Amino acid sequence: MNSLATAPGAHAGWVVVKFGGTSVSTRPRWDTIRRIANDWHARGKRVLIVVSALSGITDKLKAIAEAGGDRSRREALRAEIVARHEAMFAELGLTERAPLQYWLDRLTALAVDARAETGDLPWQAEVLALGEQLSSTLGQAYLTAQGLATRWLDAREHLLAQAMPNQTAWGCYLSASVPTAPDPALAAALAAHADVFISQGFMARNADGETVILGRGGSDTSAAYFGALLKAEKVEIWTDVAGMFSANPRIVPAARLLSRLDYEEAQEIATTGAKVLHPRCLNPVREAQVPLAVRDTNRPELAGTEIGATVAAAAPSVKAVSERRGITLISMESIGMWQQVGFLADVFERFKRHGLSIDLIGSAETNVTVSLDPSENLVNSDVLSALAADLAEVCRVKVIAPCAAITLVGRGMRSLLPRLAGVLAEFDLLRVHLVSQSSNNLNLTIVVDEAAADGLVPTLHAALVKSEALRAEDPAVFGPAWSELYASAAPGHETPWWQQRRDDLLALAAQSTPRYVYDLATVRERARRLRALAAPDRWFYALKANSRPELLQVIAEAGLGLECVSPAELELAATLVPSERLLFTPNFAPRAEYAAAFARGARVTLDNLHPLQHWGETFRGREILLRVDLGAGRGHHDKVRTGGAGSKFGLSLDQIEEFRQLARRHDVAVVGLHAHLGSGILDAQHWREVYAQLAALAQRFTRIEAINIGGGLGVPARADEAVLDLAALDACLTEIKQAYPQFELWMEPGRYLVAEAGVLLARVTQTKRKGDYCYVGVDTGMNSLIRPALYEAWHEIVNLTRLDEPADTLYQVVGPICESGDVLGSNRRLPGCREGDVILIAQAGAYGATMASRYNLREPAAESVI
Ligand code: LLP
Repeated sequence: MNSLATAPGAHAGWVVVKFGGTSVSTRPRWDTIRRIANDWHARGKRVLIVVSALSGITDKLKAIAEAGGDRSRREALRAEIVARHEAMFAELGLTERAPLQYWLDRLTALAVDARAETGDLPWQAEVLALGEQLSSTLGQAYLTAQGLATRWLDAREHLLAQAMPNQTAWGCYLSASVPTAPDPALAAALAAHADVFISQGFMARNADGETVILGRGGSDTSAAYFGALLKAEKVEIWTDVAGMFSANPRIVPAARLLSRLDYEEAQEIATTGAKVLHPRCLNPVREAQVPLAVRDTNRPELAGTEIGATVAAAAPSVKAVSERRGITLISMESIGMWQQVGFLADVFERFKRHGLSIDLIGSAETNVTVSLDPSENLVNSDVLSALAADLAEVCRVKVIAPCAAITLVGRGMRSLLPRLAGVLAEFDLLRVHLVSQSSNNLNLTIVVDEAAADGLVPTLHAALVKSEALRAEDPAVFGPAWSELYASAAPGHETPWWQQRRDDLLALAAQSTPRYVYDLATVRERARRLRALAAPDRWFYALKANSRPELLQVIAEAGLGLECVSPAELELAATLVPSERLLFTPNFAPRAEYAAAFARGARVTLDNLHPLQHWGETFRGREILLRVDLGAGRGHHDKVRTGGAGSKFGLSLDQIEEFRQLARRHDVAVVGLHAHLGSGILDAQHWREVYAQLAALAQRFTRIEAINIGGGLGVPARADEAVLDLAALDACLTEIKQAYPQFELWMEPGRYLVAEAGVLLARVTQTKRKGDYCYVGVDTGMNSLIRPALYEAWHEIVNLTRLDEPADTLYQVVGPICESGDVLGSNRRLPGCREGDVILIAQAGAYGATMASRYNLREPAAESVI
């Protein structure tokens, strides 16, 4: 053991490390504790280890404390606790029984104590304290046996609880507080005895020398008290997750690790829902100015969440969204005069009488509504009815429960309000009972019915990130997403081709920028994947996505047809595929274009009555497809959803009969039905539903041969979005086709074939710092790639010149166009950028070059193919 070699000097600093129940429940976990403590010791620090009880033990002790007169239940629980510790003693390979036996005997004595019958509070506290006394005793023996000489410290000797004003007897014994200030004498006295100590979380003594309990989560608080007393250099709370996150990661896997928080923010997040840290433990470390970190026992390489005094220099951001359930609201209507003097004093006095602490407050001239948080109060129906009865003397009372409180936390919340408009719109249809903005400008809380809160936090988190009210890419505050740390990226993501072709791309960029570069092999591979599906009979590529002839060539060679929407597209397509592989699916096209398309031999799709009402001769004797609007659009953005009355596409279902009659009158045969409801869809079931609906509609026609279920096959922009599952798509289409074997199934994707095949290369022209923002300007913008400005589309952006350098700066990547919207990517983490660096914007192969413009008379990016 290296502890001797590097024994701390007389003035060595202290580090307090705390481990919870699961971290002390197996031998391998104790080995981890030994490693962590030993690492600090080897770095010349004195270490105090604070532990919780073995997992499950505190609940059993609580059950004993509450068993009242049920002696046999107490005995059964006692036996279980003894057995558990005996097993742990054996697992740890310990031999010296006496220390463990001492506490087991205490347990036996307390279980049969006469005070058990009445649930006497001092007795309950002694019972509850046993869990930590037992675990720390086992730990002391094991660590010492493993070569890390560790001294057992009785927490009650050093932590003296003080009753708080108005505290109930229950609170004094079972939810005690310990005022702490650095005590250099204690630090020195301990240092004279040993370097490494182990002590118990969760307990203290009172002025009479009795054992008291710090309340749930009390072990974190103990560590904080010790940290303050010893004026430690650091308190580390070791748990099973890397730290505090921007939302509960179990319901929001995209939640980001909060790498750095100040004490007040951490306090708010802990108070309003995050379970990882007990809110009470922040005050002691803040007062003593001791930094506190939350770290993952299983992933000690991660730095976790660091909480300290200095506020990181970062633009204001929402740091977290949290949720508390089981909230009770009490609405009190004054029955006296308007703005009656003393009304608040009258009602609050009654809360005090029942030992209830109030959390949120909303007030009007004649009404006050307050909330009671169950984690701080013993709220049960007895307490509530007694309170309501008392309050009825001075006001009309209404109890609203259960409610959920949703809280956004972040320093400078008021300055964030303008960015929150879209986020708050999520509350649109919910009944909001109370909105409260904290007077310290750190939080905004909205109380709704608990039943309405399901699914709200994930939606809000996504909206906060999207609106950039939560600046998730700011490295000063946020770390990786939980899903990045603990789950692999959503399945199916592949390494993009451009990572392997970096040198070729840099060479191309050296010739000129801006420049789109397309990889033909990727297009070929995507075409092959589609053609491998069994269900679709014919494929047409929507060439509006990318009409570069080399790409069209590859696609045509793979056997796909081409879907066109203008005469120029048709003309180009006709040079590549025979006419029976041409589709013409325009929208609001002039009459002459239809005639020209027929002349080319293309299949024509109509989506309105007007052509048949007014231009019947153009269509006489022809076969056509009919595009219908199935009523609702889908897709990655409002502007690409092509269903519903608000969309200009497709024939409304209620006009189908009229369309049929017009077709009959002009001798037009409807041989196919078509629907395309939007773009960027990642859910395979979508096309199954479209097929089912169109096939059912086909029964109303006599000659339908083909069902065209459109394109829209999505390509995820971010690593945590699921990839479209082609196998699932094939399976569900195959299944539905079996119900309608008479139809051919057609599809017409654009994006899927080309999006990932293309990148946009641009060169850094200049950088700029303004306020909290760093801008990096490149030599093209929305004139080459309008998708971010038009759809808030997210494209991955990297500095290709510095691909291997750490991405440590947060940039707004902007172009040279005279529009505020000329932003290719906001809040992107990149290595420090310099003039001349080559920036790569990924997934730019679809709807990039084809939507480019000469705005500002700036030529859009050139195109090349590799
Ligand atoms: N079929 C029809 C009738 C269409 O209107 C479209 C696209 C497609 C097929 C092909 O959709 P895709 O598979 O590419 O999603 N500019 C937008 C996309 C607009 C799509 C227009 N119509 C974007 O950049 O996301």
